[in-house]
Amino acid sequence: MKRSPQNRFKCVFPAKSANESFARMIASAFVAQLDPRVDELADLKTAVSEAVTNVIVHAYAGTDIPPEERVVIMSGELREGRRIAVTVKDRGKGIEDVKKAREPLFTTSAAEERSGMGFTVMETFADTVKVASRPGKGTSVRLYKRFT
Ligand SMILES: Nc1ncnc2c1ncn2[C@@H]1O[C@H](COP(=O)(O)OP(=O)(O)OP(=O)(O)O)[C@@H](O)[C@H]1O
Ligand SMILES: [Mg+2]
Repeated sequence: MKRSPQNRFKCVFPAKSANESFARMIASAFVAQLDPRVDELADLKTAVSEAVTNVIVHAYAGTDIPPEERVVIMSGELREGRRIAVTVKDRGKGIEDVKKAREPLFTTSAAEERSGMGFTVMETFADTVKVASRPGKGTSVRLYKRFT
């Protein structure tokens, strides 16, 4: 049986670059209750930042989704054993081939000088990264991290 989280949050905000730092702040504020180590906090913020940047940059690009529906849905849970799970979701175009998208250096935005390292960074700085995506429906990226 899955135990309910000790604490959680959910928030929705526009997928605008101004909200990238906002998302980092939310993650920091939520994790503050664990009095995290500075380096572990920085790692989580870096991973969250990549996930949110992907929504801002990719999720709605080239779609006819109206501006008011271009959102980031961010949620988090604190679980037993100082484990944090942060989910960054969108209702955008989705990813055709998640396995390929997760490969280092894979990008669909080479022209915009993206390096294709976002997912690799997430994998480096979170303990586990889970990606679920449906073309035309959206993407959900789950970042798990255990704090010492
Ligand atoms: N939320 C999303 N919605 C749609 N496509 C996405 C989303 N997140 C990632 N992708 C796709 O996955 C690819 C790889 O993402 P990744 O973050 O690794 O690299 P990038 O964003 O292209 O470059 P970088 O993160 O280094 O600036 C992207 O180029 C994009 O095609
Ligand atoms: Mg990226």
